[in-house]
Amino acid sequence: MTFSPGLMDGQRAVVVGGTSGIGAATALRLAHFGAEVLALGLNASGEHAPVHERIESREFDVTDDAHVRAVLSQEASVHVLVNCAGISRDREEYELEVFEHVLNVNLTSIMRVCSATIPALIRARGSIINVASMFSTFGSADRPAYAASKGGVVQLTKSLAQSYAAAKVRVNAVAPGWIATPLSDNLRRDQAASQKIVDRIPLGDWGEPVDIADTIVFLASPAARYITGVTVPVDGGYLTV
Ligand code: NAI
Repeated sequence: MTFSPGLMDGQRAVVVGGTSGIGAATALRLAHFGAEVLALGLNASGEHAPVHERIESREFDVTDDAHVRAVLSQEASVHVLVNCAGISRDREEYELEVFEHVLNVNLTSIMRVCSATIPALIRARGSIINVASMFSTFGSADRPAYAASKGGVVQLTKSLAQSYAAAKVRVNAVAPGWIATPLSDNLRRDQAASQKIVDRIPLGDWGEPVDIADTIVFLASPAARYITGVTVPVDGGYLTV
């Protein structure tokens, strides 16, 4: 059954940060394989939100504790939870308030969302996939909060994997490299900066959101039933250089 068209028939998937870029592509792939998908995030009816008969996009702020609990506690059974919400504020992250906000959106939100969803995940024996980054491995003078938050995502993934394993809920992460999305738009348009990046990527080009989405589908599928606590780099070999 692995990767057959009906792979996710009858399954419920929640994609937090599913209203743009990688999360939107992931929502579309999960729906393509048969899942009923709730795509949560900002600008839920904006131009980047996924459109599919099995996807409902809803406005959602991961920093709003009460709202997160209210929405997710209504889920009876969740087979796939994807934590994809993320922001970067570049050099502004040296301001403490901004630093804390980035940590909140990129890292604390995962704890908040998982805590609210775990009863529904246990009922389905589901799995969680968190979105980390190559900056989980590297430091970044230009993005101190972003890199700290993404390092934290890898460690939180391991801790939750241990914690939820007894209930047969798996927890993994993907670490995207340079992916063409609205978040990276400005950088890609800067030809000199983009070329410098591409020169360092062994596979020689930016990745596409679907490259991350397909890895998420794999980690959510029965093909990964014995995998938990890992972070899979999807970066064209960037980390090897
Ligand atoms: P994007 O800007 O296209 O999408 C970000 C998503 O996060 C959107 O759905 C947005 O609504 C949601 N979001 C942001 N703040 C939120 C909040 N307060 N509450 C709820 N949702 C919120 O960006 P992209 O590139 O698709 O990023 C998705 C994830 O992938 C992020 O975690 C990012 O850090 C990560 N990533 C992206 C890379 C890239 O090259 N594009 C590289 C490595 C990691």
